Amino acid sequence: MQFPNDLTFSYFARFYAWMTENPIWLANSARLLKDLPNSGASVRVLDLGAGPGNSALAMGRHHPQRAFIALDLALPMLELAHRTRAEAGWSLDRLSPLQADAFRLPLTDASVDAVTAHSFLYMLPNVDGVLAEAYRVLRPGGIVAFLEPRAGTPDWGWLLRQPSFPFILSIVLWRIFSRLHRRFSSTALETALCRAGFHRVRTEDTLGNFGLFGRGQKP
Ligand SMILES: C[S@@+](CC[C@H](N)C(=O)[O-])C[C@H]1O[C@@H](n2cnc3c(N)ncnc32)[C@H](O)[C@@H]1O
Repeated sequence: MQFPNDLTFSYFARFYAWMTENPIWLANSARLLKDLPNSGASVRVLDLGAGPGNSALAMGRHHPQRAFIALDLALPMLELAHRTRAEAGWSLDRLSPLQADAFRLPLTDASVDAVTAHSFLYMLPNVDGVLAEAYRVLRPGGIVAFLEPRAGTPDWGWLLRQPSFPFILSIVLWRIFSRLHRRFSSTALETALCRAGFHRVRTEDTLGNFGLFGRGQKP
């Protein structure tokens, strides 16, 4: 296991879920799949570092025909994901929580149609290792999409205008944790995605310039 903070997330899973289950995070999570056509059968999406499952559920509400694997190392997060799934009335086929290390995905090559992660890459000691695994399990033509903390000066005024206290708190903590770990410039995220072999790579600022989407496709 290469991630030093999984214990943190185990203990604070409930607090984390409370903080991040708000319309602004959920709307941004849903945008992760904006390049995936909303049609066609048996499309599988792998959400890495899925935490309490909020990001997968948010994507799924906009993509009712998709099936999600919510992958995380921390069992308490996955227990919350199970609960959220059941409360939403989703079957296990629709959203299946999976405890695994994103550096060693227990999935066969070319077995999923999209790999997403919301607020995940920035905490890893080795981004390239996880991107290589994402590339391996994606089918040709499949997409990757990440939402990560953005380097540079954010719009604090935008943050203070947000109506939700949990959201403001979550962004402040995101800012602190990303200071300790990593923030991505557009160039850094695009370079990492290209290095992993993805093409059609592009980034997009979001969340008052606190966040950065990074997208790509497996050739
Ligand atoms: C910042 S949280 C993001 C959770 C969720 N995507 C969200 O936005 O609400 C990062 C998550 O990544 C998980 N994680 C960290 N390292 C991991 C690894 N190597 N493999 C799988 N999950 C990991 C943690 O347990 C935690 O739940």
